[in-house]
Amino acid sequence: MRIRDLRIGFGSGHEAVRGVDLSAERGETVALVGESGCGKSLTALALLGLLPPGASATGSATLDGTELVGRDERALRRIRGARAGMVFQDPMSSLNPTTPVGAQIAEVLAIHTRMSRSARRRRAVELMESVGIPDAAARARQMPHQLSGGMRQRVMISIALAGRPDLLIADEPTTALDVTVQAQVLALLRDRARDTVLLFITHDMGVVAEIADRVAVMYAGRIVETGPVRAVLDAPRHPYTAALLRSVPDPDRPVAGELPTIPGQVPAAGERIEGCPFRPRCARATDRCLTPPDLTPDETGGSVACWHPHELTEAAS
Ligand SMILES: Nc1ncnc2c1ncn2[C@@H]1O[C@H](COP(=O)(O)OP(=O)(O)O)[C@@H](O)[C@H]1O
Ligand code: SF4
Ligand SMILES: [Mg+2]
Repeated sequence: MRIRDLRIGFGSGHEAVRGVDLSAERGETVALVGESGCGKSLTALALLGLLPPGASATGSATLDGTELVGRDERALRRIRGARAGMVFQDPMSSLNPTTPVGAQIAEVLAIHTRMSRSARRRRAVELMESVGIPDAAARARQMPHQLSGGMRQRVMISIALAGRPDLLIADEPTTALDVTVQAQVLALLRDRARDTVLLFITHDMGVVAEIADRVAVMYAGRIVETGPVRAVLDAPRHPYTAALLRSVPDPDRPVAGELPTIPGQVPAAGERIEGCPFRPRCARATDRCLTPPDLTPDETGGSVACWHPHELTEAAS
């Protein structure tokens, strides 16, 4: 997966994604992290050609060399499912409420394979077994509302995997699940994504270490820091990454009351940004930050877009 200078706008001047660069190799899991509204979902939807009406994208996003930006709906439909699968936060919104879940998986197989009807039914049950749904043959005959939230998300994952995609996008897939089920679904995704690129979208820094090889931190429509997950979590360089990490609850040190939040407001989509977008909220800002910093590679194997990043030797302060 290669994304180059991806920009997504709504009408004139209203730019929500402001030049994203991101790549990943097969077998790699990249976590795309940032506060709500920073452009994570739009970036993912552009990869699937599923942008909302009124949105237009420029730049480039390729899968195995196949360009996805600017393609017509027919070409995109072929690519979706066969090459890219997606799991959303709310499986109910993607599942048909009046069709048994096994039949819904079989429908996807009908689009992407030449299997016979009975082979599709059998394969649907196998897929349900492979994502850890117990008693899959019986479950396959049930309606979505008869399954728990965790089981529904497993059904969505088996649908996303049915076309053997090269790219699996999971957009906040565990946000609606309780903690135990969340851990099971994360383990499942990690296990099943070994042959794909897994783009895992979350606003929760806490789950990043559980799943990702690399992390890309997004702020106001741009990637501000990226790198190997341990390096970024142990020694964040961008002040925004450091602030996000401070807001993660520490299970060993329970705090009473509110979690610390980052003071100030994220710039609205389309708002004119002068210089570094984090400047109004940044304790390290200087006059130099009136010029926007570019994402620049450093010696950790990562990149950071900041004029005054935390030193590598500084603790995560
Ligand atoms: N359908 C839409 N129409 C207009 N603006 C939109 C639409 N969808 C998203 N946006 C704008 O793009 C920004 C980024 O959205 P999104 O990618 O969904 O953020 P995230 O997934 O990081 O929470 C939003 O803050 C919003 O301003
Ligand atoms: S460039 Fe300046 S304002 Fe932006 S994050 Fe770095 S120090 Fe803060
Ligand atoms: Mg989103």
